Amino acid sequence: MVRDMLNYNLINEFQDTETETHRILSKHELSPQVKKIEIYAPEIAEKAKAGQFVILRVDDEGERIPLTLVAWENETGKITLIFQEVGLSTKKLGCLQVQDEILNLAGPLGHPSFIKNYGLAAVVCGGVGTAAAYPIAKALKEAGNTVVSIIGARTESLLILEKEMKEVSNELYVSTDDGSKGHKGFVSEVLECLIAQKYKFDIVYAIGPPIMMRTTSEVTRPYSIKTIASLNPIMVDGMGMCGACRVSVGGETRFACIDGPEFDAHSTNFDELMRRLRIYPPEERLALDFHEKMPGGICKCRQR
Ligand code: FES
Repeated sequence: MVRDMLNYNLINEFQDTETETHRILSKHELSPQVKKIEIYAPEIAEKAKAGQFVILRVDDEGERIPLTLVAWENETGKITLIFQEVGLSTKKLGCLQVQDEILNLAGPLGHPSFIKNYGLAAVVCGGVGTAAAYPIAKALKEAGNTVVSIIGARTESLLILEKEMKEVSNELYVSTDDGSKGHKGFVSEVLECLIAQKYKFDIVYAIGPPIMMRTTSEVTRPYSIKTIASLNPIMVDGMGMCGACRVSVGGETRFACIDGPEFDAHSTNFDELMRRLRIYPPEERLALDFHEKMPGGICKCRQR
């Protein structure tokens, strides 16, 4: 009952923020299962800053999906989102076509990245985390930093935004787990080499899977390099009420949606974050299987 009331209030919150039709303007596939969409959302485009995110719902039964703002244009009112189809809700989002509407869209949410001229900055990112890293690298470069970006993926076909990251970086390094492009191994290894060889970084941003952020933070810890991680916990309301996104930072409970999403990586309890992220996959798998077996599959209800 309490949960129903909470949901009712949250749905109203979402509808209150919806002042325009949030229509999809373009859609592209960046790599298998990773899609980029542009949405007309002028009220968000006007206020967005690097490091912030939105939460959206695709349909009345859908979960709220948190997605980092990748780009925005105040002049046209467009925002850009990139997402990986991993569960039922993101697969439903992937079914939407140009001209379809997003049911609810709230944002910008979270604190913007604290951008200033640090000097030499490294942006280390992996997988779809590169989408969240791009606006931060861009903002760091615009603030006068020398930006060294390291992007990684399991294999070359899963690398995204390589050209865009190159444009906003002074140097770009690539790594793939299988060695199909760039360094064979992990982004944290490239960072370790750079630190050992010649680079004295003033700040490191780590954005991607929690294991990669934890490893990166262990590379920088012995050198006392300020390291920021953009955390990706489970989120529900995105407004500090449900507690789903709680993380432990410096022994204190913080809410990623309103206190973050960026935190000091050396103080973050990544083990707890990873444990909490493993809570729901069995239910997600069941929901996915159920809908995939329905006549027409997941996209049926979205067909125009
Ligand atoms: S998502 Fe609910 S408190 Fe952060």
